Amino acid sequence: GLKIATIGGGSSYTPELIEGFIKCYDELPVSEIWLVDIEEGQEKLDIVGNLAKRMIKKSGLPIDVHLTLDRRAALKDADFVTTQLRVGLLDARAKDERIPLKYGVLGQETNGPGGLFKGLRTIPVILDICKDMEELCPDAWLINFTNPAGMVTEAVLRYANINKVVGLCNVPIGMERAVASLLDVEHARVRIDFAGLNHMVYGLDIYLDGVSVKDKVIEMVTDLDDNGLVKNIQGMEWEPEFLKALNVIPCYYHNYYYKSRETFEKVKQEAEAEGTRAEAVHQLEKDLFELYKDPNLDVKPPQLEKRGGAYYSDAAVRLISSIYNDKRDIQPVNTRNNGAIASIPNDSAVEISCIITKDGPKPIAIGDLPVAVRGLVQQIKSFERIAAEAAVTGDRNLAILALTIHPLVASDSLAKQMVDEMLEAHRRYLPQF
Ligand code: G6P
Ligand code: MN
Ligand code: MN
Repeated sequence: GLKIATIGGGSSYTPELIEGFIKCYDELPVSEIWLVDIEEGQEKLDIVGNLAKRMIKKSGLPIDVHLTLDRRAALKDADFVTTQLRVGLLDARAKDERIPLKYGVLGQETNGPGGLFKGLRTIPVILDICKDMEELCPDAWLINFTNPAGMVTEAVLRYANINKVVGLCNVPIGMERAVASLLDVEHARVRIDFAGLNHMVYGLDIYLDGVSVKDKVIEMVTDLDDNGLVKNIQGMEWEPEFLKALNVIPCYYHNYYYKSRETFEKVKQEAEAEGTRAEAVHQLEKDLFELYKDPNLDVKPPQLEKRGGAYYSDAAVRLISSIYNDKRDIQPVNTRNNGAIASIPNDSAVEISCIITKDGPKPIAIGDLPVAVRGLVQQIKSFERIAAEAAVTGDRNLAILALTIHPLVASDSLAKQMVDEMLEAHRRYLPQF
């Protein structure tokens, strides 16, 4: 059977993943799941790991769950390695979200300064895991969920000696589900052609049973309801004029770019009134771990769906299964562009619909992105590349450059001030600087 190693196994998301493997067992014969964490995470690992064991026991499947702080033991001969770690935990996320607000810049964990610093903290750790993989499981696939997933995939492609890496996000799957519920049809009947970058992905076309329904969907989401308000579905509260002219479907992270002032104000007000998302998630996690402790609990509790990563197991497990079974179905993932999007470098990571084969994702070439979105995507790609280089080299100038060219910052002086304050705030997790 297959050996899965999950780094950051103490994450509150682990029951999501376990549920996925249980559901998928008929086509994906997993025999060992190794949940790894660091010492700081031992208590969480024990709690969520024991829930994982109860879930497996209830399923009656012959899967062994191992809990360990020994990453190398977990990686040894693994077939798939999944990463869901958070360097610096939620305290670091809270800083990413709060510090930029003082400068009038969005505070968010994967966009702008927060995304940069999450990348600077995370990339060295992921590259270190890649080194261990080279030695201990050179044939394994790395399925990375850790944010910023696009920048992390870019860094692995560029700086690690492993080729088998896929970056994964639940945003595309969430968009398909949202469209399916808008059309009131089953999710499996809807497919979207995706292209762009992680958290900057666009739906270029939408199909229901193979027939394009993009125009219909755009009509539906721009139609006014009885109160004269735009009907909206997840991430689609756009001005009708804008969306019709754009003629592709943005994801909800595009709110930060196409509604940048409104979203900044909203995030800032929320941070002042109720605390940042990190603080909300901190409370959610506390509640979840209280539930997880219950020795009678042996299923994924529905409360986990309050996290943004809902359905991430669907994405992870169906990807792993399609690689293992050489299914050649189409899934949106982060992979090497290889010419699929003409205006993005061949060797860069893109998030795009791919055919999933046993030798990995094959991106489906789209030609190029529409001119209206091309520039923004290129700009964010440049940001990701320079940020990844800064993460590897520990070069402060590059960090300032990356932030200066980020469209949500657009000031070298602001960039410098934020980089310096955030380097200081996160010093413990940035040994390369
Ligand atoms: C979405 C994104 C993930 C992100 C999550 C945040 O699902 O795709 O990349 O981690 O939202 O959710 P949270 O509950 O942590 O705010
Ligand atoms: Mn084996
Ligand atoms: Mn994501």
